[in-house]
Amino acid sequence: MNIEAIQTRRSIRKYKPEEISREVVREIIEAGRLAPSGKNKQPWKYIVYGGSSKKELLDQMKAGIRREKSGEALLIKSAYGLPDAENTLRIMREAPILIIVLNTAGKSPFESLTADERFTETVDSMSIGAAIENMLLCAEDLKLGSLWIANTCFAYPELVNYIGTTAQLMGAVALGTADESPRQRPRKAMEEIVEYRL
Ligand SMILES: Cc1cc2nc3c(=O)[nH]c(=O)nc-3n(C[C@H](O)[C@H](O)[C@H](O)COP(=O)(O)O)c2cc1C
Repeated sequence: MNIEAIQTRRSIRKYKPEEISREVVREIIEAGRLAPSGKNKQPWKYIVYGGSSKKELLDQMKAGIRREKSGEALLIKSAYGLPDAENTLRIMREAPILIIVLNTAGKSPFESLTADERFTETVDSMSIGAAIENMLLCAEDLKLGSLWIANTCFAYPELVNYIGTTAQLMGAVALGTADESPRQRPRKAMEEIVEYRL
């Protein structure tokens, strides 16, 4: 396999303060726009934050994490992930661009789902995952660092309220010039993940 970006991409958690142009952000989102999606629904929407609007958004994320640490936690069983979420928040503050990713067909995760709705949501989530991966690979190809972020879940009500959306908040993608070159993180062995029944 010689798609270089697949081999070289890493999650980047340290960014230089260099700005990223609108044209480059557009090119990266274009890679997401071309992704496959179940029934070609393209259930995605992107909101690009930078500068003071990113700061305000992240103040909401901080408020959500603070609420989760107080007596009003919504994700009680996920509390072990709060230190990681705080670290992610620091990274989001450092990255010059943050792309919020919404599922326009999705409901709030705090609403219950029928089995039909769960299947549909799974398909839409996979579609959005394909789009995000396209964006990360495009960023890598453009020699930019990126981080796929799901820790927005800890501030779900605060963030959707601030964003002003009824769509489902899937997460975010941080973008910027990398200020670190991490080694490849470990992967499971091929034998562990594949079973041939040819
Ligand atoms: C769906 C998803 C959500 C993720 N959420 C976060 C996050 O909130 N914070 C973070 O620091 N990394 C996050 N990551 C990055 C993973 O930790 C990373 O991809 C994994 O450790 C493998 O490292 P690599 O991307 O460098 O290969 C996420 C990755 C995926 C695919």
